[in-house]
Amino acid sequence: MGKQLLEGKKGAIFGALDPNSIAWKVALKAHDEGAKIVLSNAPIAMRMGEIQKLGEEIGAEVIAADATSVEDLEALFSKSMEILGGKIDFVLHSIGMSPNVRKGKDYGDLNYDWFQKTLDISALSFHKVMQTLEKNDALNEWGSVLALSYIAAQKVFPDYSDMAQAKALLESIARSYGYRLGKSKKVRVNTISQSPTPTTAGTGVGGFDAFLSYADQMSPLGNASAEECADYCVSLFSDYTRKVTMQNLFHDGGFSNTGISAEVMENFRK
Ligand SMILES: NC(=O)c1ccc[n+]([C@@H]2O[C@H](COP(=O)([O-])OP(=O)(O)OC[C@H]3O[C@@H](n4cnc5c(N)ncnc54)[C@H](O)[C@@H]3O)[C@@H](O)[C@H]2O)c1
Repeated sequence: MGKQLLEGKKGAIFGALDPNSIAWKVALKAHDEGAKIVLSNAPIAMRMGEIQKLGEEIGAEVIAADATSVEDLEALFSKSMEILGGKIDFVLHSIGMSPNVRKGKDYGDLNYDWFQKTLDISALSFHKVMQTLEKNDALNEWGSVLALSYIAAQKVFPDYSDMAQAKALLESIARSYGYRLGKSKKVRVNTISQSPTPTTAGTGVGGFDAFLSYADQMSPLGNASAEECADYCVSLFSDYTRKVTMQNLFHDGGFSNTGISAEVMENFRK
């Protein structure tokens, strides 16, 4: 049993694909903290069937929605409000995909149709989620909307390719929509910039294992795990963070502010 930090709150969680997914851990934790949840993922992810098991485990309905389709999102939120018995208090956008990364395209040879898909799935969908929520008056006051980002939005990590642009756009959307929803609804909007994490999306990036170790050695507290990310998400959905908004919040064990670490230096002395 958690501390019931989310008791009485209703949430929508996007992006639980399998037990490694960050969204999967967030759903378990939010449930444990007393929240009522609706789970969503792309229709294609439903066919793998894993998300249904999570739904059964935490007593949550699973609703298919392609996050790039406003029509799907409208249906999702109206159904969610019916199921949950009212407006939504928190939303997690844990969605990312780049066809260019997936197909190993070089950054100097990108397919531009795929680039647009990357931006649509990984960034514009966040705007679509919030615009749909706003137009349908689906958010409660003092609600919290969160998306997951990565430090490649600020610094170059070559293998991250066009996902770097998607994350920069995602963080910018969080600021602009955070202003708007703050004014109209007292709703906060933030992004969490998470450590590299071994998930389907994470391990799809070239050289992931080496990079995971490097990031761990460069972080005074070590990499943040998916479970720790879920704890942070719960705190940001809770009433203890009601004035935190329009921020990109690094959850990375200190990586983002470390120039060099003793451990990494040691590797160059050998
Ligand atoms: N794993 C990492 O190293 C890491 C680090 C920082 C940030 N992130 C971010 O965390 C988020 C979650 O990724 P994850 O690491 O848990 O991997 P994951 O592969 O488990 O989750 C990605 C999810 O996006 C969903 N998705 C893809 N296209 C979609 C669409 N059109 N509509 C709806 N959903 C769609 C997938 O089905 C999947 O559930 C992503 O935004 C990712 O970029 C991951």
